[in-house]
Amino acid sequence: MSRRRRRIAGLAAVALLALLAFLILTRPRAFETGPLPPASADLANGELVFRVGGCLACHAAPAGTPGAERALPTGGTPLPTPVGTFYPGNLTPDRETGLGGWTEAEFLTAMVHGVSPDRRHYFPAFPYRAYAVARSEDLRDLWAYLRQLPAVRAPGRAAEIRLLPLARRTVGLWKRLAGDPRPPAADPAQSAAWNRGAYLVHGPGHCGECHTPRNLLRIRDERRALAGGAHPAGEGKVPSLRGLVARHRYKDAAELALALQFGETLGYDKLASGGMGAIQTELSQLPPAELRAIAEYLVSLP
Ligand code: HEC
Ligand code: HEC
Repeated sequence: MSRRRRRIAGLAAVALLALLAFLILTRPRAFETGPLPPASADLANGELVFRVGGCLACHAAPAGTPGAERALPTGGTPLPTPVGTFYPGNLTPDRETGLGGWTEAEFLTAMVHGVSPDRRHYFPAFPYRAYAVARSEDLRDLWAYLRQLPAVRAPGRAAEIRLLPLARRTVGLWKRLAGDPRPPAADPAQSAAWNRGAYLVHGPGHCGECHTPRNLLRIRDERRALAGGAHPAGEGKVPSLRGLVARHRYKDAAELALALQFGETLGYDKLASGGMGAIQTELSQLPPAELRAIAEYLVSLP
């Protein structure tokens, strides 16, 4: 073999090995859960998880959809992100265009591992890393809640992302770098409400998705949890949720709970723009005790 040929063969071998490594490292794992033990669904809790999870904030129908359907997560509203525009889909139990054909195990795999039934990675624009630390009873109640919504036919729309299949695959690498999400540690020295608040904020409430800063790889920097972040859509800043009382944003937990419940209609500011309006609308439907728990946890953050 000539020297030139040897070099080309060498380069081809290196490229092949790199491709192989990429394919192995980014492989969406199969999460076979087997049949799940039967659970008696608590629909009220399912709705609570749906609200605190802000599913409607992203999976709403496009503006202009008639009222009744607008209140259902039929999807289609554009969600701009730095990597491109998503159109989060239909979560109602329609067989063709929604989750009607899904099994509960497929749903849990999507929520916890960010992997689709046809084994592709979801982009973390779908905040599954926060839902992953939710209690499995809560996710199962959420599934039961979604199953009993009216089925609405609402075909989805593909995400507008360059090189979509390759980009999806690359998310596998990102997931490896980001590591497994860890649930907030319970603190027995704190009240039950505080612990409930920590769970809601870091789990299904996914507040850190926007309020926690990210590094260059867009992985959340948990050492600075809730210290304020770049807006997911790329414009403006998301304020810090630390020191809310010391900075005189709110007098105490009771006032913060009121602000979360009523938003800007009660004269509080900084609760409407950059996606917070949609989140607050959903929070306003939670039982006041849950908002109080969230507030109690937040005001304790230095
Ligand atoms: C911040 C926006 C956002 C929120 C909040 C959100 N989602 Fe999504 N969701 C997305 C995006 C974006 C996708 C599509 C991701 C992709 O294509 O890679 C998605 C996809 C999904 C899928 C997969 C759908 C399919 O057809 O493959 C399910 C299931 C889902 N979301 C359920 C939920 C549930 C349940 C909640 C509330 C607990 C929720 N999502 C909250 C943005 C969001
Ligand atoms: C989609 C991104 C997003 C998510 C998710 C989100 N927030 Fe926000 N939040 C914002 C933005 C942006 C603002 C600033 C809004 C403004 O200035 O109008 C804000 C403002 C706030 C404020 C007011 C801060 C101040 O200085 O007065 C509070 C309190 C708050 N958020 C709490 C929460 C809680 C609690 C959660 C989780 C249940 C949450 N947010 C989830 C984006 C988000």
